[in-house]
Amino acid sequence: MDKTIANLLTALAKASEVVIFTGAGLSADSGIPTFRDGATGLWANIDPEEVASIEGFRKAPEKVWAWHEAMRALFAKVRPNAGHEGIAALESLLPDARVTVITQNIDGLHQASGSTRVIEIHGSALRIRCHRHCGFVDPWQAGQSAPRQCPSCGALARPDVVWFGEALDEDVFSLAAEAAFDADIFFTVGTSAIIQPAASLPMAAKEYGALLVEINPHQTPFSEHANYSIRAGASEFFPALRKALAEE
Ligand code: APR
Repeated sequence: MDKTIANLLTALAKASEVVIFTGAGLSADSGIPTFRDGATGLWANIDPEEVASIEGFRKAPEKVWAWHEAMRALFAKVRPNAGHEGIAALESLLPDARVTVITQNIDGLHQASGSTRVIEIHGSALRIRCHRHCGFVDPWQAGQSAPRQCPSCGALARPDVVWFGEALDEDVFSLAAEAAFDADIFFTVGTSAIIQPAASLPMAAKEYGALLVEINPHQTPFSEHANYSIRAGASEFFPALRKALAEE
């Protein structure tokens, strides 16, 4: 990894747009189970269709709210790990670059670790919004496990996350796509790269000229396209990069 980090330092020194695209693997080291790593923790004994889909919400909003409150409570207990912290540190270590995080995670851990430019393409479990999109958005109140109504229009409120089968918010995704097009270096971190349209971002970045760097202990569909595919956990790689940048 040392040689790769040396090459990355050279590329980072010239970069004005640095993008870090993250998925569930980044938060795994904080103790948040990933959906595809097996039915553990939050995902044990539940049907995703019931608790994380629009059909499930229409049929039984109280089940959906209760499950999301359990998820929010888990997120409130966990802390950012060295991967999140290393990513946040890039902002001060690369003062001449703009550092943008695009995340598929809904746990708020990038903001908790200090990253200031975070595009949450799958929303955030720390917020609710009006189901009818009337404009109401609010922080999730701890302990609120029964469905709340939208105070503006009276419709039901819902978690501000993108559920299975739902389309992404177009404005948010456009911001992410623009960041990918502008990127000089695009890191893809802890994502299996199989959920579209999120998974199109790394290849779009590469087509528009970015150096593509993958951080994942396992091979993914991106590995063969990446300029560097680094077989390491995020909480191992980013502290190493941070240290090398600080020593420069
Ligand atoms: N560091 C980096 N990568 C890791 C680590 C780690 N410590 N641990 C696991 N990984 C990798 C796994 O090898 C896998 O490739 O993280 C990836 C996690 O993949 P997924 O569980 O598929 O997560 P993600 O890609 O974020 O899923 C995308 O699907 O579940 C839906 O909407 C949800 O946003 C999510 C989307």
